[in-house]
Amino acid sequence: MLTLSGLRAGYGATPVLHGVDLELATSECAAVLGRNGVGKTTLMRAVTGAVATTGGSIRFDGTDLSPLKAHERARLGISLVPQGRDIFPKLTVLENLKVGTAARRDRTSDAVDRVFEEFPMLAQRKRARGGSLSGGQQQLLALARALVTAPRLLLLDEPSEGIAPAVLDEIAEVIASINSNRGIAVLAVEQNLEFAARIAQRSLIMDKGEIIAETSTAELRNDRALQKRYLAL
Ligand SMILES: Nc1ncnc2c1ncn2[C@@H]1O[C@H](COP(=O)(O)OP(=O)(O)OP(=O)(O)O)[C@@H](O)[C@H]1O
Ligand SMILES: [Mg+2]
Repeated sequence: MLTLSGLRAGYGATPVLHGVDLELATSECAAVLGRNGVGKTTLMRAVTGAVATTGGSIRFDGTDLSPLKAHERARLGISLVPQGRDIFPKLTVLENLKVGTAARRDRTSDAVDRVFEEFPMLAQRKRARGGSLSGGQQQLLALARALVTAPRLLLLDEPSEGIAPAVLDEIAEVIASINSNRGIAVLAVEQNLEFAARIAQRSLIMDKGEIIAETSTAELRNDRALQKRYLAL
């Protein structure tokens, strides 16, 4: 579904991605793991179109994304839950979700009702301001906001970051269910290997702007040498 070949991107004169090769199958959930600053967020933003690429290619279901602007990529079904979530703290839960539906072609949709059914906590708190929610609740809201855009590929940038350990399991379950029940492909950046193992079978290891290894997440959990070398563990 998603194929990156020799992808290069950076900020101004500073290159960050030095030729990323990556393939994600339809309905797959894979994790991208790597230390701080290796370019994981830049990779996500290059796929959404928020960061301009300087070389290589991105294909989504055979379509070359390079000439497409961010909103056109969103229309094709690519949605990012950014690092730190970026929900609107002063808007209510319902208003945050309505911002999500604005990205759809069919603005009148029952997508908001559907996420309220799926996440009753959000329905109960629909008039609460986004900023008053806990970290875990904000992550659910951010996931729900992405879901109302009817994505086919969900990019998650460190979904476990800043979440209380007690709610990590619930967030992992939600992501696994989005992937398996809705059939949405997921590419999740993670630094928490246990969390990655809950959602993804395949792990792509990133270092200095490249994917330098690919392994099963289960194997990576047992490979202390690989963890020490490339992960902040
Ligand atoms: N807007 C920006 N302008 C200039 N340089 C940036 C910008 N954003 C990131 N960088 C630099 O690009 C490199 C990769 O950053 P990136 O955020 O992609 O890494 P990351 O792997 O997501 O890190 P983290 O684990 O801390 O989230 C870093 O050296 C960072 O300082
Ligand atoms: Mg990052």
